[in-house]
Amino acid sequence: MTSKGIRVLPMRVALLVVVTCLVVYYFVSKPKSEPKGYVDLHRLLVAGIGAAEMGGNEVRRVREGNTLGEKSKGETLEGVNDPLTMGDTASHRVMYHSLKAAFPMVNVVSEETDVKDSELLIRLPPLANEEVGKMGLGSEVVNASDVTMWIDPLDATKEYTEKLLQYVTTMVCVAVDGKPVIGIIHKPFERKTYWSWVGHGTNIDDKSNDDITKIIVSLSHKGDVEDVAKRAFGDVSVIGAGGAGYKSLALFDGTASVYVHTTRIKKWDICAGNAIVRNAGGHMTTLTGSEIDYSSHGSPINDKGLVAAVRKHQHYLTKLNFGH
Ligand SMILES: *[C@@H]1O[C@H](CO)[C@@H](O)[C@H](O)[C@H]1NC(C)=O
Repeated sequence: MTSKGIRVLPMRVALLVVVTCLVVYYFVSKPKSEPKGYVDLHRLLVAGIGAAEMGGNEVRRVREGNTLGEKSKGETLEGVNDPLTMGDTASHRVMYHSLKAAFPMVNVVSEETDVKDSELLIRLPPLANEEVGKMGLGSEVVNASDVTMWIDPLDATKEYTEKLLQYVTTMVCVAVDGKPVIGIIHKPFERKTYWSWVGHGTNIDDKSNDDITKIIVSLSHKGDVEDVAKRAFGDVSVIGAGGAGYKSLALFDGTASVYVHTTRIKKWDICAGNAIVRNAGGHMTTLTGSEIDYSSHGSPINDKGLVAAVRKHQHYLTKLNFGH
């Protein structure tokens, strides 16, 4: 046996180890601009898109396999059944744990909780979204303790069980100091992701329109809002739709010009929509025009209602006249 064969093998192994280390370092190391305790919002955007799409894959898988295992979480204030399915749980698992593993110092608030699998380590897809990488969005480094990520693993669960799949979304929102700055809304059954990063960029086409008043409201309380709307605006069309994510996006494609909600709503339902509306120069406020606080120390419930519009928000607010 010659000594040559023995020497070549360790050389190759050593080389492989070095290359592997470099590759791992390249992908794992944080940008130099991100000191300990700080986080670059650009990384949260890319990760959030990855998490929303991974969650969406679970939502689709459970629906297509018909393994919903539907349970009830009780009734909403409108007396409508509030279901929980395997789609919600499976999506929560991948979304929550992937973000928590990637950003342990960031506070992540999810609609669902899941005690069993608190040790899960889910990896985000590498380079979740090439489009975002190429857009030159810049970076913005913030103190991680000022950040709250709101995730909704499955918005419009009731419609999901009824196969009204166009209303179903998964959402991620990043709030800094309680203000919504990144909104990500993924439609799993259309395999489309919509996002905005306030002041940096968006992939949403704004086709909102000044000329018409079309009000979009929850399917479950269309009747109540219809009366209020007719009094405020005269003869207008009131569109009932499922899902807060769906309704927020509907303000951009000409489906609706204002989104109104008069009963309580959870912040993981509206934070992402609030960010995308805000980025477009619009507003999402309570019925009396107050901003909604998305910091983690407040309540996750907004019980002051909702008026959202890309254009003429103040006009809608005044007409609806809830402050008086
Ligand atoms: C981030 O903010 C917290 C709370 O205001 C503060 O205690 C902490 O020192 C800050 N962290 C860094 C790294 O500046």
